[in-house]
Amino acid sequence: MSSKIAVLAGDGIGVEIIAEAVKVIQCLQQDFGLAAELEYAAIGGAGYDQYGKPLPDETLAICEQADAILFGAIGGPEYEDLQRELRPEKGLLNLRSALSLFSNLRPAILYPQLADASSLKSELVAGLDIMIVRELTGGIYFGQPRGIRELENGEREGFNTLVYAEHEIERIARSAFDIAMLRNRKLCSVDKANVLEVSELWREVLTRVAGEYPQVELSHMYVDNASMQLVRAPKQFDVIVTTNLFGDILSDTAAMLTGSIGMLPSASLDKNGKGLYEPVHGSAPDIAGKGIANPLATILSLAMMLRYSLQQAELAQQIETAVGNVLNQGFRTADIAEGEHTVSTADMGDAVVAALRASAK
Ligand code: IPM
Ligand code: MG
Repeated sequence: MSSKIAVLAGDGIGVEIIAEAVKVIQCLQQDFGLAAELEYAAIGGAGYDQYGKPLPDETLAICEQADAILFGAIGGPEYEDLQRELRPEKGLLNLRSALSLFSNLRPAILYPQLADASSLKSELVAGLDIMIVRELTGGIYFGQPRGIRELENGEREGFNTLVYAEHEIERIARSAFDIAMLRNRKLCSVDKANVLEVSELWREVLTRVAGEYPQVELSHMYVDNASMQLVRAPKQFDVIVTTNLFGDILSDTAAMLTGSIGMLPSASLDKNGKGLYEPVHGSAPDIAGKGIANPLATILSLAMMLRYSLQQAELAQQIETAVGNVLNQGFRTADIAEGEHTVSTADMGDAVVAALRASAK
């Protein structure tokens, strides 16, 4: 049976990096027997330009019918003055919410070939392999009420609501425990239970769900401490599970530990394993159109898609091996280059395809 993959390039470097991931898909179709149909759709600023909104109805319909979504990046300075509902970010947030993609997996892996790229001492990060599981459709990102209101004295007040229902905590907890079971069985739940009631409930539910996973060692950490521990001794972590906002922040820190945010993929999954796959980095308007962006995070996101949504773990592994091989051969885009000869976005994509082809023979 053929899988349907929705392809949403979005804005900025999204367009260039998605083109390279599509080359990889085409190679899998031609040389590895992958049966997949691609459907392209507009999102973010591109959605706004073409249809007047960041998540056009056509795009949502295509995504609803797809088995998986490959996503580039969204946003750019030309959209910053639009009202909030029309901004590119809203396209991504609405898509996550409409498809109930509540479980966001953000691995932070240090590639041995890039050990010197980290800003931390190499012994602190050598072999680093953390998985952050971020709750993605709840918390303060979506809580109501929200807005900016005028008080009686004429002063304005901004407000958002941090709210989690038990079922939302329970399902992200299970998702994280399941992942911990496939890894080193250590799960650290990050909250702010010393101050927030919502964190108190979070902690209680995590502890309850832990009863179903006796093999997993659960610990709890306050978010301020977690942010410090991530840069002090990051290898103490295996899997981290946390709320939407804390996960947004901590996953950027974790990504930077590897020194190469251009290498990191992510998956956002619903309860059936349908998912949206995107690089962790954003649309990087400053380098858009220059052909220098690193396409590897997007290509590795495709590997995650094959593993988590399309049940093609072997092909996923082959892509990951091909990426390792091109790094071994010395291919580096500007973001990960240290004096080596740097290659363009398209050269890097071609190198991965060539490495894959070589392994098909
Ligand atoms: C991310 C991004 C998004 C978020 C933005 C673009 C809405 O920072 O995926 O981490 O805050 O979730
Ligand atoms: Mg973020």
